[in-house]
Amino acid sequence: TPSNVLEQFRMDGKVVVVTGAADGIGLAVTRAMAEAGAHVALWYNSNDVAIEKSQALAKEFKIKTAAYKVDVSESTQVSETIAKVVQDFGRIDVFVANAGMAISKPILQQTLDEYRKQMSVNVDGIVYCAKYAGEVFASQGSGNLIITSSMSAHIVNVPTDQPVYNATKAFVTHFGKSLAREWREFARVNIVSPGFFDTKMGASPLAINEAYRMAALGRQGHVKEIKGLYLYLASDASTYMTGSDILIDGGYVL
Ligand code: NAI
Repeated sequence: TPSNVLEQFRMDGKVVVVTGAADGIGLAVTRAMAEAGAHVALWYNSNDVAIEKSQALAKEFKIKTAAYKVDVSESTQVSETIAKVVQDFGRIDVFVANAGMAISKPILQQTLDEYRKQMSVNVDGIVYCAKYAGEVFASQGSGNLIITSSMSAHIVNVPTDQPVYNATKAFVTHFGKSLAREWREFARVNIVSPGFFDTKMGASPLAINEAYRMAALGRQGHVKEIKGLYLYLASDASTYMTGSDILIDGGYVL
């Protein structure tokens, strides 16, 4: 680990996978990794803009990038795409398991399919990514997993009705902490718990108003205000950090 602090944050030559890379937090994190010199594999699901973004980042930062279309709730797609990334880039140093979705309705109004959909993306998706990335980390003898959870793993925010979403996030937070211990000999695992950010997911008037009312800073966060945290966790600036769950919520949970 370099002793100069700015050098600790450099990611030159590192290979980073980001899921949900076409939008919001994932796109900002992808850019942060590229800005720091990493090669980036952008995983996207529905938003093909990832392909253009991938090419533009490669050009701008003279790094290697590639975009992969993958539904993280499909285990075969996850395992096959991880194998493809290893084939294309040679290794995986950091895996940012960030893709997620919410169906905001009271449980009494949710169908069982809506319940299962959230479980399949937010829980199964994270477990599949962690399991197959973990196999690569174990064989390399090194690795770094960062999971995007939510402040709603800590508290039940009012008035948004997200009982299933909240519980999926509680699952991945505790899952990540457990992996930090399980993988202590070869990989670090940390969790980011965002509050309200101004992405597609955070775009509802309810979320905007709630941030205004309840966050100490009185507003939503902008994605440029979260990417540095992911870079910190991905880089050698945080080599003593594992199993941590970091709230970044403008002072909502106090
Ligand atoms: P977003 O909706 O802009 O991005 C979510 C991304 O996940 C999209 O690129 C989407 O295509 C991808 N995705 C969804 N289902 C997928 C699937 N089955 N397979 C592969 N990719 C899939 O939202 P945002 O805010 O950028 O969300 C990123 C993460 O941050 C999510 O895990 C979300 O739960 C979490 N989060 C967001 C907060 C916010 O206020 N924006 C608050 C707390 C957590």
